[in-house]
Amino acid sequence: MKSLMNSSGISVAPMMDWTDRHCRYFMRLLSPHARLYTEMVTAAALQHGDAARLLRFDPSEHPVALQVGGSDPQMMVNAAKMGADAGFDEININVGCPSDRVQSGQFGACLMSSPDLVARCVQRMRAACEIPITIKTRIGIDDDDNYEFLRSFIAVNIDAGCTTYIVHARKAILSGLSPKENRTVPPLNYPRVYRLKKEFPELRIILNGGVTSVDDCHEHLQHVDGVMIGRQAYHQPWFLTELEREFGGGGETRSLTREGAIRKMLPYIERELAGGAELKHITRHLLGLFAGQPGARAWRRYLSEHAHLAGAGVEVLEQALERLPCPPGSQ
Ligand SMILES: Cc1cc2nc3c(=O)[nH]c(=O)nc-3n(C[C@H](O)[C@H](O)[C@H](O)COP(=O)(O)O)c2cc1C
Repeated sequence: MKSLMNSSGISVAPMMDWTDRHCRYFMRLLSPHARLYTEMVTAAALQHGDAARLLRFDPSEHPVALQVGGSDPQMMVNAAKMGADAGFDEININVGCPSDRVQSGQFGACLMSSPDLVARCVQRMRAACEIPITIKTRIGIDDDDNYEFLRSFIAVNIDAGCTTYIVHARKAILSGLSPKENRTVPPLNYPRVYRLKKEFPELRIILNGGVTSVDDCHEHLQHVDGVMIGRQAYHQPWFLTELEREFGGGGETRSLTREGAIRKMLPYIERELAGGAELKHITRHLLGLFAGQPGARAWRRYLSEHAHLAGAGVEVLEQALERLPCPPGSQ
């Protein structure tokens, strides 16, 4: 069985519409060691849709996990096998998403109320493939907002053989809040996640939610095995290089500059454009790279105004770099 211990303890969260393969390629350049997660892919989409497209990733993305949404055990087994065959390092089950669409499909956060069903999926998925099957969950849902509820969900899944849990440290409110509000309104409760690790030291517990600094990570890592970062890594991708230096050894990224990272993206972008990708689908993930730096606005604006134009190619990035106050090569 492949190990989950080969990474830095830092991972980047699955984020629908954000952590697509272009985004992950870019994040991997900034962070050679963080574990990356795909957007959620439903088991049904893998079964009935364009699985080859949904499962595509670049070899440089390892270690990379496929996040799957679903609760039909046979479909989840099929999804796990497809993910393992495609070369993913881990299959993660989504028990955290609160959207209406997901609830009507009987998966996501509402599955916290059906631990036996999740455990059946885990058991059969584990039997069907060699890579780790992990769960990403919330700390509770609606009125089931206490340690005992979380504990009993986890206990059933331990019996099914799941040993790694990513816990978003806020409950999900299943009606009345949008998914976005469900990432800010319910308060964070880190002690509940710490308590889980304390009670089950043999588990690998990864804390998620509201982590925005290296200091935050140090604090959490005193209590849990890993930290998963979502929005901060997307909006301020340079943060990944700080994490890499602190937790990943940092060798290759120590001398990397923001401009250098863009230059490293260019051959990939050329390849992708030649294969039919559109520039704007890649550059949208690069907009935050200069956040907080002089020229950040000019960078964003130039890409936003030019990357969508017909025939736009890597020259758009070269021109955007030239608009930065300190031109490439001058530092
Ligand atoms: C745009 C967006 C899309 C998301 N999509 C998913 C998803 O597909 N699967 C999932 O488990 N969580 C999803 N999440 C939740 C994140 O994985 C993470 O749990 C949440 O953002 C809290 O972490 P953070 O405070 O570090 O951002 C999404 C979050 C955002 C912002």
